[in-house]
Amino acid sequence: MKSFLNVTDLGDLRVALDEAMEIKNDRYKYAELGKNKTALLVFFNNSLRTRLSTQKAAQNLGMNVIVLDVNAGAWKLEAERGVVMDSDKSEHLLEAIPVMASYCDVIGIRSFAGLTDREYDYAETVYHQFVKYSGRPVFAMETATVHPLQAFADLITIEEHKTAKRPKVVLTWAPHPKALPQAVPNSFAEWMNAADVDFVVTHPEGYELDPAFVGNARVEYDQMKAFEGADFIYAKNWSCPGVTRPEQYGQILEDYHTQLDWTVSERQMAVTNNGKFMHCLPVRRNMIVTDDVIESPNSLVIPEAANREISATVVLKRILESI
Ligand code: CP
Repeated sequence: MKSFLNVTDLGDLRVALDEAMEIKNDRYKYAELGKNKTALLVFFNNSLRTRLSTQKAAQNLGMNVIVLDVNAGAWKLEAERGVVMDSDKSEHLLEAIPVMASYCDVIGIRSFAGLTDREYDYAETVYHQFVKYSGRPVFAMETATVHPLQAFADLITIEEHKTAKRPKVVLTWAPHPKALPQAVPNSFAEWMNAADVDFVVTHPEGYELDPAFVGNARVEYDQMKAFEGADFIYAKNWSCPGVTRPEQYGQILEDYHTQLDWTVSERQMAVTNNGKFMHCLPVRRNMIVTDDVIESPNSLVIPEAANREISATVVLKRILESI
């Protein structure tokens, strides 16, 4: 596997899930695979889980790890070609990428959406520059439009905790005071469409996800209806994807104070099938989800985060096997 951005990069999901369980049972089984190989993890944005779990995954495979926080000590990087570089950006990605690549064998990228230019974000411009100019395998650690390491960990978690052969999984929008990217819901929708689940998406009108990710999933604008009989509730905020109104891309469409009834609480969870609660974290309590729900025995947020180590180990293993 030379790059990891979409669910199709992983191939057969059943095989990938079996591999995840194999690694979970013995996470050091492939400790020789990455000997004398170096993973460079490049962060243009903050992270807790991705930073720690991906480092741990690389170490499980015997790799060396270098972490670069671009905004904490490195030169500020310009990404657009053709600009006169008279701003505070001292170095261009077109030089920085091959230089970074010369010190490593595999590159992970975290580079969030700017949320101002839909075309630029949805073209995954920064990610593809790394692919083109590094000559190394590149994997997404949350890019402008996707977060596949998270979605793979979410799928592993659902597989571990499901009680029905084909569980009902609901992705619900929830309020947030800041405009957030669509990467997590995009990938979650993409991966759930590829998995053997009954998948429903619920959000206020105007927040329709890009058809490339939401596919043929059932969209239900009534959150209570969507929650009925659900086995898993996956909460996440996202800003307007600009599908029907491109000029609204990246915006919050309504003051969040008026949409606090979308906060996941015992009221909605009561109509589920003893549903499990999921969120990728970090989460704003009593905005996305109430204290009671996230602290309940049905909350999977901690095992879900722990599975980030497993998803990253599988992905790095696949990449190492292809070098
Ligand atoms: N879920 C997730 O990617 O967490 P971080 O932003 O802390 O890495």
